[in-house]
Amino acid sequence: MTADPADLLTLAEKTAREAGDLVRDRREAVERMAVAGTKSTPTDVVTESDTAAEALIRSRLFAARPDDGFVGEEDGVVLGSTGVDWVVDPIDGTVNYLYGIPQYAVSIAAQVDGVVRAGVVHNPASGETWTAVLGGGALLDGRPVRVSACTSLSLALVGTGFGYDAARRSRQAAVLLEIVPIVRDIRRAGAAALDLCAVASGRLDAYYERGLNPWDLAAGGLIAAEAGAVVGGLHGAPAGNDLAMAATPGVAAELTALLERLGADHD
Ligand code: IPD
Ligand code: CA
Ligand code: CA
Ligand code: CA
Repeated sequence: MTADPADLLTLAEKTAREAGDLVRDRREAVERMAVAGTKSTPTDVVTESDTAAEALIRSRLFAARPDDGFVGEEDGVVLGSTGVDWVVDPIDGTVNYLYGIPQYAVSIAAQVDGVVRAGVVHNPASGETWTAVLGGGALLDGRPVRVSACTSLSLALVGTGFGYDAARRSRQAAVLLEIVPIVRDIRRAGAAALDLCAVASGRLDAYYERGLNPWDLAAGGLIAAEAGAVVGGLHGAPAGNDLAMAATPGVAAELTALLERLGADHD
């Protein structure tokens, strides 16, 4: 079976659009969306749309490629045998979705032998779709996107996010307290995959967050990097659970130094 990233992207994009239609239609059908349950903490909510979308994505990907692996936020891991693993966030930005804020996305990435080679982030509420194949640049609705030309943290619009754990949030707030006075402004838009795409499109100059999971980061991280962002963690680590940062090259070193000084990758 082919592992051509362009073919994987075609399947991912078609599937993300179908899942996006499903979740958007379900959201538009009700005035108030119900919480179906909570996960790690009472603030970590899940709706029936999260699980329905993941089930749809899983069934479409396995119908096309039955022997691949799968990592999804809601239903866990399926081991595959082809070297291709799908990393899926069925709704990134569930709290926005719950409240009817049109800032949520379906995120699907294809990893080949552990390396993310193709990714799509689709916002069904705005209709915007970011895509990337490793080495091929990043696109928004088929047109190339590029990071901003910002060269100073003092002029940077910086996105961030908070996890669902209260103790970690306190620490994240303390770090933020130091950052707010020295940047242009801060945004907490509520969907990590879209934050990474915002960096790719120059709508943010930088973004950082501690505590992300692979499904938050896989597709958006590739898209940001392919648009020219510096994507990584602190102290030379790759972007991951300890810290994920994506920044236009002109502010990456300054932001990294600041986050390292503040110990942003520690609770
Ligand atoms: C969350 C969102 C949020 C980020 C959290 C994520 P979910 O994902 O991306 O912006 O701050 O860290 O867990 O739960 O809505 O898929
Ligand atoms: Ca997520
Ligand atoms: Ca999610
Ligand atoms: Ca979630």
